[in-house]
Amino acid sequence: MDKKLTVAVVGATGAVGREMLKTLFDRNFPAAKVRAFASARSAGKKVPFGSETLIVEELKEDVFHGIDLAVFSAGGTTSLKFSPHAARAGCVVVDNSAAWRMDDRCPLVVPEVNPQHLEKHQGIIANPNCSTIQMVVALKPIHDAVKIKRIVVSTYQAVSGTGQKGVEELERQVRDLFNGREPENKVYPFRIAFNILPHIDVFLENDYTKEEMKMVNETVKIFDDPSVKVTATCARVPVFYGHSESVNVETENKMTAKEARILLSRSPGVSVYDNPRETMYPMPVPHAGEDPVFVGRIREDESVANGLNMWIVADNVRKGAALNAVQIAEKLLARDLVAVRDKNAFASD
Ligand code: A2P
Repeated sequence: MDKKLTVAVVGATGAVGREMLKTLFDRNFPAAKVRAFASARSAGKKVPFGSETLIVEELKEDVFHGIDLAVFSAGGTTSLKFSPHAARAGCVVVDNSAAWRMDDRCPLVVPEVNPQHLEKHQGIIANPNCSTIQMVVALKPIHDAVKIKRIVVSTYQAVSGTGQKGVEELERQVRDLFNGREPENKVYPFRIAFNILPHIDVFLENDYTKEEMKMVNETVKIFDDPSVKVTATCARVPVFYGHSESVNVETENKMTAKEARILLSRSPGVSVYDNPRETMYPMPVPHAGEDPVFVGRIREDESVANGLNMWIVADNVRKGAALNAVQIAEKLLARDLVAVRDKNAFASD
């Protein structure tokens, strides 16, 4: 890792963008220069990078010359517009939005699960949905050992998944309620404070939400295995940071709960936190700000021959977004893949 890179964070004023800057700094990412970009509204603002401050620059189509690597977290529309310009300028993009995830030209990568998919990148690499990331980190070792046939997942997702505005909405509503004021809903269709919304992203033709279908389609792409069936229900809960998931898997071959605990405790990126007798199980509040995917409540599903239940928690802004993106960047560097081989792959986008 001796190449010193120029790295850009696009969406640097947002919740994930700020965490990306922090993660690059904390992990001592070998960058000679880090630049921060956001919309024209934020040009000239300051964002922290370790003990330094960076001046935010306006994102424009021609800024990418001389930048080796850009991590984007500025939403799908911005990514669709600007990532192809970056790739054409020879800048490798790791994008946190949903814009490129199902595009065949773009690997969808969780470094603990499918780093080999990076080898064929053409300039844009997609970071999966936060709920998918934490689930596949925990399930890949089980899939490799006993082959998962079906996954049934229900999520309990934090408001930071909606960005800074989600965090502010929950804060504002709690303050309003405690001060006897009627809370206003600006970001979510209903009050999120002291409530649960079984609705994340838009509803689709099949009555699932887009978030739920992301979990289905992204899991198959990451596992590279269409035989794995997935069904999901995604809910927004009044938690600031950390997504939780109740996950049931049915497997081809038997794995006991004890075997699963041993296997997962040896698996990369996973921390088994599971001792019911001592009321030890993962929760979002104590694990916010931590890197691993925490797995607890591991039990055999007694309603089927081969099945497991578990409870999976991770910081959605960290492993679910910024950390995974920076880990992708680290893997690209380690495999000498910080280069765009075909600058025309996104010529018509
Ligand atoms: P800005 O603060 O200038 O609007 P979050 O997900 O927390 O809402 O953050 C979204 C991030 O994406 C912010 O940094 C935001 O910048 C950035 N962003 C949104 N639209 C654009 C755009 N058109 N060009 C560049 N950055 C954008």
